[in-house]
Amino acid sequence: MVARTGDIEKAADVLRAGGLVAFPTETVYGLGANAEDPAAVTRIFQVKGRPPSHPLIVHLSGAEPLDDWVADVPATARVLAERFWPGPLTLVLRRGGRVPLEATGGLETVAVRVPDHPVALALLAAFGGGVTAPSANRFGQVSPTAADHVRSELGGAVDFVLDGGPCQVGVESTILDATGETPSILRPGAVTREDLQAALGRPLEVATTTRIRVPGQHPSHYAPRARVVLVDPEQVVRRAELAQEEGHQVGVLVPPSVAGAAVKAHAVVKVPGSMAAYARGLYGFLRELDRQGCDLIVASLPVEKGLGLAIANRLLRAAGPRHIT
Ligand code: TXA
Ligand code: MG
Repeated sequence: MVARTGDIEKAADVLRAGGLVAFPTETVYGLGANAEDPAAVTRIFQVKGRPPSHPLIVHLSGAEPLDDWVADVPATARVLAERFWPGPLTLVLRRGGRVPLEATGGLETVAVRVPDHPVALALLAAFGGGVTAPSANRFGQVSPTAADHVRSELGGAVDFVLDGGPCQVGVESTILDATGETPSILRPGAVTREDLQAALGRPLEVATTTRIRVPGQHPSHYAPRARVVLVDPEQVVRRAELAQEEGHQVGVLVPPSVAGAAVKAHAVVKVPGSMAAYARGLYGFLRELDRQGCDLIVASLPVEKGLGLAIANRLLRAAGPRHIT
């Protein structure tokens, strides 16, 4: 079931009344509240079980009201907003007057983006203000890429769920710190490092996957229940079979380079060869392996270029610092 006009109006009313609305974006589903309502923003943290020091992203309907939400927009940020919005790019800028400290975890910077999804844009237009939204999952879990993921994980804690079908991108937005002279990528996503470098005409630094830059960048984010082990692609099948023989219920993400191999394991997912399809499916695969009762997931990292960088980043975080072999 996909959201209708009446649903959009109802959801906007829920936001105005201080309620929480789960809504689709092109990346993942968000858990939204009126960005200017500190009590509603505080409820997001309670529902997610997220520490209040972890900053949220303010979602806007377009780049036009940007000056109300951020204190100062450097020329580079304007170029990127023009080029990539609506789209999966979040810009971290200096906090403007409309943003309460509850939304930024007390920081003097704020993350903003314009999502590229018709339901999200309709909601933002009908509501008329900014909507703070983290991914609509419990803290530390895998982000939801379908309305059913939200319903099963947050259910009655959300006042309204807008269904926009499965998310097309599947991994969270690229986050770029654009406050300083030299922008840097805090979280890789579908607006790739290469895209950003081409738009800016200069190389960009990527904060490493295991370094904690700000609260909310904890390395063991995006984790399924099962432990995730990362090995070289050609070792995936062997490692999975060994663990299965040792008594584990093993789930395998079989890389495209060994797709032909037969695998003896509890549950097997053949990873799509296209990075876009892999990103779109990734969180669903992890959820499915959890659902099938796997206690160990064996996978490998894709080549870290283009969208492969974002996928590798999420797999590393799912594995946590101690499970990379
Ligand atoms: O694709 C997305 O970005 C999704 C959809 C719903 O828009 N949202 C999302 O939100 O992934 P969340 O809360 O799960 O992740 C937001 C990330 C956190 O890692 C947080 O640390 C970072 O944004 N962030 C927010 N404000 C920041 C700030 N002022 N400085 C640095 N990082 C910030
Ligand atoms: Mg999240």
